[in-house]
Amino acid sequence: MKVLIVGSGGREHAIAARAAKSPKVDKIYCAPGNAGIAGIAECVDIGAMELDRLADFAEEKEIDLTIIGMDDPLVAGVVDVFEKRGLRVFGPRKNAAILEGSKAFSKDLMKKYNIPTAAYETFDNAEEALAYLQNSQYPLVLKADGLALGKGVLICNTKEEAEAGVKTLMLEKQFGSAGDRIVVEEFLTGREVSVLCYCDGTHILPMTSAQDHKRAKDGDQGLNTGGMGTFSPSPFYTEEVDAFCKKYIYQPSMDAMKAEGRDFVGIMFLGLILTEEGPKVLEYNARFGDPEAQVVLPRMKNDMIEVMEACIDGCLDKISLEFEDNAAVCVILASDGYPEHYEKGKEIYGLERFEGLEDYYVFHAGTKRTEKGIVTNGGRVLGVTAKGGSLKEARDNAYKATEWIEFSDKYMRHDIGKAIDE
Ligand code: AMP
Ligand code: GLY
Repeated sequence: MKVLIVGSGGREHAIAARAAKSPKVDKIYCAPGNAGIAGIAECVDIGAMELDRLADFAEEKEIDLTIIGMDDPLVAGVVDVFEKRGLRVFGPRKNAAILEGSKAFSKDLMKKYNIPTAAYETFDNAEEALAYLQNSQYPLVLKADGLALGKGVLICNTKEEAEAGVKTLMLEKQFGSAGDRIVVEEFLTGREVSVLCYCDGTHILPMTSAQDHKRAKDGDQGLNTGGMGTFSPSPFYTEEVDAFCKKYIYQPSMDAMKAEGRDFVGIMFLGLILTEEGPKVLEYNARFGDPEAQVVLPRMKNDMIEVMEACIDGCLDKISLEFEDNAAVCVILASDGYPEHYEKGKEIYGLERFEGLEDYYVFHAGTKRTEKGIVTNGGRVLGVTAKGGSLKEARDNAYKATEWIEFSDKYMRHDIGKAIDE
């Protein structure tokens, strides 16, 4: 089989690494890819949003399966473009990717189908939103409706902060048209867990749980980022929580999408919060998480390609997912200053230390090959993942492996996966 992967981050590197392990796969292409992915795939210079060019390429190379890693092309309808041309592709169509593309859509869906989530109101008009804030309880949460690189969520402790937030999102348009509409939501407290599920339109199979650390600095301080590290499984995701989610969240979400004529095929990624009243949905995404994929996929025993094909063919009920009985931790090595200002082009040393190792991985995110060798090319540069028998062992292994890599301005959090098993 020939496989094309669309995207250029650590997530796509983790997907490519799994595709490379599949006995079904002979050749992997990645558009546009990065310096690490280039080690296992042929990278092609087509942007993830060049939907027609991607489909042209898949036709020309007779690609058997295209896997879409990123959210933007999914929300823009890349799957519809491929399907119209009879090309096999893994991911939700545009009418289902809206589950991630519009927070207002997902909130209305959950309300209509009684899926547990935070109470909310939606506003298209800044005046009305500002008026609503006058008699609200604080803290509360403001969310830009559309895609905003995970940064369109503001937790506001006071009315003044919320007023400023509405202005930033709706009037100053910090996230462009993503802020034309906002959701104002009840603030929930509890442990957060990410659960990524394979979906075939009817059936839904949850993978092992994971947790992301979104803030830039130790102790969950600093700005929100795309994710500074992850661990899997989450010790808080107990069998009881799993049973609740299967009954009241996962299958009902699939059924709701089907009932709306929006059959969901691909990865449904649920951002859950375990409140005192029980698990609730914070958000849906329509793709693998980054860096959740970097801890979940290395622990999966199944052939990922076989599972994805079952999703496309609507026979996921024939598959039983299996995960290793261990743990994995991924620590992101970033450029100092991320997510704000940082420099690029720093030479990276030590990548070869990972070659041939079974339980250690270095997934590239923002890297580029130049005449000098591989250099930094983004805020999140690498994801170092290690496995271990326990979460603590996996964490010790991952942090040991972060020391193998050197580049100027290397920055990481030191508490990924910490304070949960000790
Ligand atoms: P989202 O993109 O909707 O997952 O939001 C990003 C982050 O904001 C989440 O991972 C939570 O940490 C936080 N968040 C979102 N919604 C809420 C909420 N209703 N209550 C508390 N925290 C929230
Ligand atoms: N790590 C969070 C996300 O991929 O959205």
